[in-house]
Amino acid sequence: MSHADSANPLSRADRSRDEHHGTVAVILAAGQGTRMRSALPKVLHEVLGRPLVHFPILAAMAAGVSRVVVVVGHGRDQVEASVRKVAPGAVFAVQAEQRGTANAVMAAVPELGDARRVLILSGDVPGPSVETLSALLSAPSMTTGPAPSLTVVGFTADDPTGYGRLVTGADGHLLAIVEHKDAVRAGHNLVVAERRCNAGIYLIDRELLELTLSRVAGDNAQGEFYLTDVARFAAEAGRPGIVHLVSEAAEVEGVNDRSQLAKSESRLRKVRNLEFMRSGVTLLDPERIRIGFDVTIEADVVLGPDVTLSGRTVVESGVVIGQGTVVKDSSIAANAEILPYCVLDEAEVGARATVGPFAHLRPGTRLLEKAKVGNFVETKKTTLGRGAKANHLSYLGDCDVGEESNIGAGTITCNYDGLNKHRTRIGARVFVGSNTEIVAPCHLGDESVVGAGTTVTLDVPAGALAISRAPQVNLEGWATRRGPFARKRARTPSGQGEH
Ligand code: UD1
Ligand code: CA
Repeated sequence: MSHADSANPLSRADRSRDEHHGTVAVILAAGQGTRMRSALPKVLHEVLGRPLVHFPILAAMAAGVSRVVVVVGHGRDQVEASVRKVAPGAVFAVQAEQRGTANAVMAAVPELGDARRVLILSGDVPGPSVETLSALLSAPSMTTGPAPSLTVVGFTADDPTGYGRLVTGADGHLLAIVEHKDAVRAGHNLVVAERRCNAGIYLIDRELLELTLSRVAGDNAQGEFYLTDVARFAAEAGRPGIVHLVSEAAEVEGVNDRSQLAKSESRLRKVRNLEFMRSGVTLLDPERIRIGFDVTIEADVVLGPDVTLSGRTVVESGVVIGQGTVVKDSSIAANAEILPYCVLDEAEVGARATVGPFAHLRPGTRLLEKAKVGNFVETKKTTLGRGAKANHLSYLGDCDVGEESNIGAGTITCNYDGLNKHRTRIGARVFVGSNTEIVAPCHLGDESVVGAGTTVTLDVPAGALAISRAPQVNLEGWATRRGPFARKRARTPSGQGEH
């Protein structure tokens, strides 16, 4: 890669798009995924917060295909809506009945346009790397002889159960792909013992695809139209495919059930956590930390055990996030500290602010620089100005707090009157005493003070003291005569109370 390319990654993508012009990606995503036992279509189950079907689509686009066709059927509307989020330009082909992978590709043929080559990917294989797909797409131009018309991505499985087996001739050419069930049913022990498996990723010439697809019949153990039969027909036509073996099986393992889903998640989590550690992020016990795909973390951040970061979260340098904290779609600015067991959702935490332990920042929370939110405080649609503090046991909803103000323990903004929400505006350097309710809409002027235990129902002018609790009365000697200890003493014959 030239220096100019590394400085501008777009130029590389543009170039590969040109290179692979005429290659259309077809993603098979119409199946129900019976083995998941789920109401949700299988390809929408998520790995690290990303739906399975997004992985092959994003990888194919990054590898530079000219167009993406997604075959949908089961849960069609849901799958289409999810795909549109990452690939607005994707075209959908409908497979009315799920009669097998060849039948699915057949449904995509009318959408192939003038494509000369087709890259077929399974919607339930989350791993394929951009590198693998790019290598696959570029291979023909690198060979000296005639380009193969069919390349099948393979891997060597420790346990090949359930996968199609790759059957090759002495010269290494692909003769057939035999599905596990069919190999077992036919008693082909050599094939059953074969550990080289079909990853469900194929690059095939358009005309060879159409020629061989037309020959596929459903005469097999599952009564389905197998795309894998294309390999045998290509060999019979004198144009056998070749196998592109990936070195790490896990990269292309499919997800058919929940245990494979968990395995895939744990693999991708490890890969991602390693990337973060290499880029300068400290993970205390990385096995227990989960970081979603759209999360950005700068160097010199420390994440404690059981931290989960998801959505479009951004964490700037010097931030420390304590054990068990869960953050979604939030930004945390430089050197802020989030203590253990906090929940942040669509919140903005300013530089050097402190949150927690046990704080809940709900959507619309903004903490400016050096603001502080302590234990058992809940905030929603609330801004805390620079250096403002709410250290203990409070609910602040629909509220603006000015700089350096102090919100006492147990303060509650009464923002909801049963019908509508109202805002509370608290100025700068205001002191709100403990156990205070502020009935919104309400405005506390700059540098005002609210006495502890007050229910604030009226606006407080700047510099004023608001106090609403009943004045205290002391009755001299009352407790000595009538308090609980006095009554206990009266009951014991000796007149000696027990303490
Ligand atoms: C398939 C391959 C197998 C390979 C494995 C790799 C066939 C016959 N077998 O098996 O050789 O080792 O993938 O993971 O192709 N789909 C449709 N319409 C259908 C049926 C399936 O769109 O009618 C989609 C599914 O949504 C899924 C993909 O095709 O995303 C693969 O289907 P699946 O049933 O999971 O195939 P496997 O049994 O895993
Ligand atoms: Ca599968």
